[in-house]
Amino acid sequence: MRLGTQRVNAQGHLEVGGCDTVQLAEQYGTPLYVLDEEAFRARCREYRSAFVGFKPDVEVVYAGKAALNRAICQIVAEEGLGLDVASGGELYTALQAGFPPAKIHLHGVYKTDAELQMALEAGVGAIVIDNFEEIARVRRLAGDMGVGRAVPVWVRVAPEVDAETHPLIRTGQRDSKFGFHLISGDAYRAVEQVLGAPELDLRGFHCHIGSQISDLSAFAAAARAMVAFAAEVRCRYRYTAQLLNIGGGLAVRYLPEDQPPSVSAYAEALVRALRAACAEHNFPEPALVVEPGRSLIAEAGITLYRVGAVKHIPHEHPELPHDYLIVDGGVSDNPRPQMYGARYTAWHAQRADQPHTHPYRIMGKHCETDPIIDRALLPETHAGDLIAILTTGAYAYSMSSNYNRYPRPAMVAVRNGTARLIVARETYADVMRMDR
Ligand code: LLP
Repeated sequence: MRLGTQRVNAQGHLEVGGCDTVQLAEQYGTPLYVLDEEAFRARCREYRSAFVGFKPDVEVVYAGKAALNRAICQIVAEEGLGLDVASGGELYTALQAGFPPAKIHLHGVYKTDAELQMALEAGVGAIVIDNFEEIARVRRLAGDMGVGRAVPVWVRVAPEVDAETHPLIRTGQRDSKFGFHLISGDAYRAVEQVLGAPELDLRGFHCHIGSQISDLSAFAAAARAMVAFAAEVRCRYRYTAQLLNIGGGLAVRYLPEDQPPSVSAYAEALVRALRAACAEHNFPEPALVVEPGRSLIAEAGITLYRVGAVKHIPHEHPELPHDYLIVDGGVSDNPRPQMYGARYTAWHAQRADQPHTHPYRIMGKHCETDPIIDRALLPETHAGDLIAILTTGAYAYSMSSNYNRYPRPAMVAVRNGTARLIVARETYADVMRMDR
């Protein structure tokens, strides 16, 4: 499996963005997050151009929870995408990085007053209203702060689409904690309240059905549900939504056998479903917003680890290899295998050209069982070797921790043979910085 600009160079080393990963590891240390900047940018452009043919009034918004820092904000801004932030910290990062506030929208199932104030002060493009308490709070804060204009909001709806993915990352179903529910009538009551609030300017509706979804019919179902909802709202309240945000969620490739739909197939399925539903309900076609995170950045990221120990363990588990590699990272830089049983592909960074046929179980170095890959195929591997885990661009760095008081890894962006440090490696002093 070869993603983005990955290739094997003349030394047999894995190269990304024209940079030799063996040299990157020497220069910046390990574990190291490597962002293939060209691959990330190319994917941003692919998303924008995929929709152009089908529907020109589509806005593509990067979901910053997948991975966010100053450099990533700047790349996203340069590529002309909007930005979805889901917390005060993400919003603060975006504003500090100079991201245009009008192209930011704020999500969250519980936004604190401080988070809402930051968003109102900055003048973000939209606040995505999730619950009744928030309607009241945004109204009060806008009044107290003398915002002076109606605050642009979207109302988040749980569209009751049960997408096939890991239960912890499914969000559009009936028992989801997110958004206003259709079944209870809350979604309609929310719209009624927002329309009756002079401090709020309802711009449209939002939904997000989950993440790592390969079945395009789930996105089509979400689009149909949202159009049906918008049509019913028009009937009840004479309000015609001009905009629908269908969220993110498109799957990516973690394993060689994974075949996620292409962005253009996704765009086509979504726009077709939207059009058909609009025709069925005789509803004027709204503008469309999509907010992918994973499918923009996951495949552009790898993590480099140094193998510290090799163990032969004669256990009796039929599926797990007996040869174990212990590497210098793990659950603190990527909790996904532990949290979701997420699966990844490994590549030997120094002997990238050799057959990858020997099964290893790759484990982290933390004080618990933290597998990175249960069954990875590599050439024969020794302590001191460098390995790359592919497709770690989304939800690894952003979900990292200091577990066991390990400093977090650095991140470099590589492009056209040049590497630039975009996140410095934490030090032990950083780990202790907040201790009093
Ligand atoms: N929009 C909203 C409102 C979201 O909640 C999310 C992701 C996205 C967009 C972007 O979804 P994506 O295109 O990345 O699938 N930590 C989990 C994933 C959590 C996703 C949370 N919401 C993981 O590592 O798999």
